[in-house]
Amino acid sequence: MKKRPASLLILFGATGDLANRKLYPSLYRLYTKGKITENFAVIGVARRELTDEQYQLNIKQSIVSEINNVKDCDINSFVTHFKYHSHDVSDSASYAELKKLAEQMDQTFELEGNRLFYLAMAPEFFGIITQFLKSEGLTDTAGYKRVIIEKPFGHNFETAKKLNDMIRSAFEEEEIYRIDHYLGKEMVQNIEVIRFSNALFEPLWNNRYISNIQITSSETLGVEERGRYYDKSGALRDMVQNHMLQMVALLAMEPPISLTTEEIRSEKVRVLRSLRKYTDKEIQQYFIRGQYDRDEENLLSAYRDEPMVEKDSNTGTYVAGKIMIDNFRWAGVPFYIRTGKRMSAKSTKIVVQFKDIPMNLYYQPKEVLNPNLLVIHIQPDEGITLHLNVKKSGQKEETKPIHLHFSNSNVNGINTPEAYEMLIYDVMRGDATNFTHWEEVALSWKFVDRISQIWENTREQDFPNYVSGSMGPKKADELLERDNHIWWPIEQFEIE
Ligand code: BG6
Repeated sequence: MKKRPASLLILFGATGDLANRKLYPSLYRLYTKGKITENFAVIGVARRELTDEQYQLNIKQSIVSEINNVKDCDINSFVTHFKYHSHDVSDSASYAELKKLAEQMDQTFELEGNRLFYLAMAPEFFGIITQFLKSEGLTDTAGYKRVIIEKPFGHNFETAKKLNDMIRSAFEEEEIYRIDHYLGKEMVQNIEVIRFSNALFEPLWNNRYISNIQITSSETLGVEERGRYYDKSGALRDMVQNHMLQMVALLAMEPPISLTTEEIRSEKVRVLRSLRKYTDKEIQQYFIRGQYDRDEENLLSAYRDEPMVEKDSNTGTYVAGKIMIDNFRWAGVPFYIRTGKRMSAKSTKIVVQFKDIPMNLYYQPKEVLNPNLLVIHIQPDEGITLHLNVKKSGQKEETKPIHLHFSNSNVNGINTPEAYEMLIYDVMRGDATNFTHWEEVALSWKFVDRISQIWENTREQDFPNYVSGSMGPKKADELLERDNHIWWPIEQFEIE
């Protein structure tokens, strides 16, 4: 039988929201599926004082609130793998104690000296923690050492570089796993498979046959309790720099020569290098920002009235943009992206619109045939839909549009694994494919920085400019209308 990965996870931020909502439930699922067995252990690290028993009780509670049908026998044996360390990030003695505990756990659970350091906390601590991990000898271990970093990875290129340099003084690039949880989503991982395992799509996947590609990631929630972070970040840094550009890279990349991490990453990097560098004027034309207002019934507050948000905030909660990729395959094909909070649906979908056929022989009430679309449903529904035209029954020359669906969740018959579950398992196995390399981070920041500089220097007079519960500001529609396109109504594209 293939050996399961043995590892000690040292989790900084063990009492935080991410740990409770995502990490403990994901570890528990891996445990019940037998992907991690007896040779794993976790040291939860956080500032507050807790006994091991209290910590284990918190873990149980967070798992039970996220997962149905938790079995007592499973969860009780699961939590015996967890210990707690109350920590002061700036005190070397605290790291020395942590080291001792790590060595004990290593022996008890036979972990072969393999260590994962998960930094699930505010980014200002990343540098200091990684430096202490090295100076106090925690990274000096017989097995592997890897560090997992949560976003945001910097605030712009400059701060990201500083952060990266600090982390690099303790870890090699291949030991750094920068999380972009979109890369852990089943259907985001499916983009490459759909493209590179079907003879049908790849020959058409270029500017001769594709008219435009639209990527929408809309959310219904507002900023909730994250105003302090979000008001300095906005949708551009929060969603575009990472998740949206990663999806663009996967859609636009050349086929890699093999499926190794290095080959895939290097193709993605080439896409990010080909993003057109716009002039200031083009940025103003091609990028639209929005900020949510109250909803029509006046039940929800406007962004500017959210806790910890400036009353005259110039931060965008919505971005739409037209991205051009200047390479041979994509010259002339716009990639339209849009993402925002408080929109009408929680949905992430990609629509690939094919060009019209050269001449329409058939009659349709609209006198034009509906274009062929390939819709990739990332969430909440997962699957693909192909929009085609067929003969209308009983009519000689009339066509009607039909949709061929594939639903991922229906076929598998089980819930697709949570993004974090896949990503944690990847780190344990040393597979960095679904994590972002420094070069990707750097190029994405450089692209986004140009836009944020202009937006920060010019106040948007129209804010707030979209009603909560709508699909964003009108200007975003005009962006496509100028090119004779429309945003496809993805709200109506759910797989039944
Ligand atoms: C996070 C952003 O990276 O992604 C959040 O910080 C956003 O603001 C979230 O809500 C969206 O993720 P998902 O998986 O719900 O689409």
